[in-house]
Amino acid sequence: MTALFGRARELTLLDARLAAAASGQRGLALLEGEPGIGETRLADEACERARARDFLVARGAALSDAGAPALACWRAVARSLSQALRKVLDADASSSSGAVDEARWRLFEAFADALSSHARDKPLLIMLDDLHDADVASVELLLFWVRNVQHGCWLVIGTLRDAASRVSSANDALLARIQRKAETIQVGPLSLDDVSAWMRMSPWTNSNSVTWPARISASRPTHNSLRPSGRRTIIGLRRCCARCVRPCTGASTTPNVGPNRAG
Ligand SMILES: Nc1ncnc2c1ncn2[C@@H]1O[C@H](COP(=O)(O)OP(=O)(O)O)[C@@H](O)[C@H]1O
Ligand SMILES: [Mg+2]
Repeated sequence: MTALFGRARELTLLDARLAAAASGQRGLALLEGEPGIGETRLADEACERARARDFLVARGAALSDAGAPALACWRAVARSLSQALRKVLDADASSSSGAVDEARWRLFEAFADALSSHARDKPLLIMLDDLHDADVASVELLLFWVRNVQHGCWLVIGTLRDAASRVSSANDALLARIQRKAETIQVGPLSLDDVSAWMRMSPWTNSNSVTWPARISASRPTHNSLRPSGRRTIIGLRRCCARCVRPCTGASTTPNVGPNRAG
């Protein structure tokens, strides 16, 4: 994994959650932020830290692809642990779609039993990425897990787009119920110092881009926020007010901003 910059506050919260889970305080933590801000990277770091604490780590990601099977993220969780666990979900796939009924309850119960049995000797971290894309059954199973698995040492960490960046879906009400059961950790932009450190380490950047955040920082420290790279940008500037600098889509070009423009 590449180096992680910044995120001291979020990592302190996640470390505390891992320590609590290891001593039997089960829970759900949601990392919430705008796309590209770094929720997944942070959750991956939590997985690494959990492994270092001797957790069993199971990871799954929701799929937005049309035709993805119901319970897609839990299927990935199951796959990451054992074939037998996967078969529990495959055994009665029909009950994972359609209305919540007794058959689905039994499926969830069987899966939760089988999954928690993997965590008899070790604490368990379940990481569910991109919950905003999860199918309804996946979110229901998460809710089932959080409410009903009252034994063992476990922590679930989920990543979720913030409400402003989410497309409304059939899951909205369920996600709201899940959020009421969770500690939500907001993942915001990195500080200028963190981004500068990142850019200095980056093989893609040149000297212009390294001095750029410092120029902006010196001119208007409170009117700019920076976020980590998305797929198409090396670094993005998010405008927080009308007086802020323009978003920039390439760190290797000298940005069209400066102390006079930014103010
Ligand atoms: N704090 C960070 N330090 C270094 N790289 C980061 C950091 N946060 C995000 N990244 C990188 O930025 C990119 C987007 O982050 P990602 O976690 O996938 O965003 P999100 O899940 O919020 O859409 C990835 O390449 C990721 O490795
Ligand atoms: Mg992500």
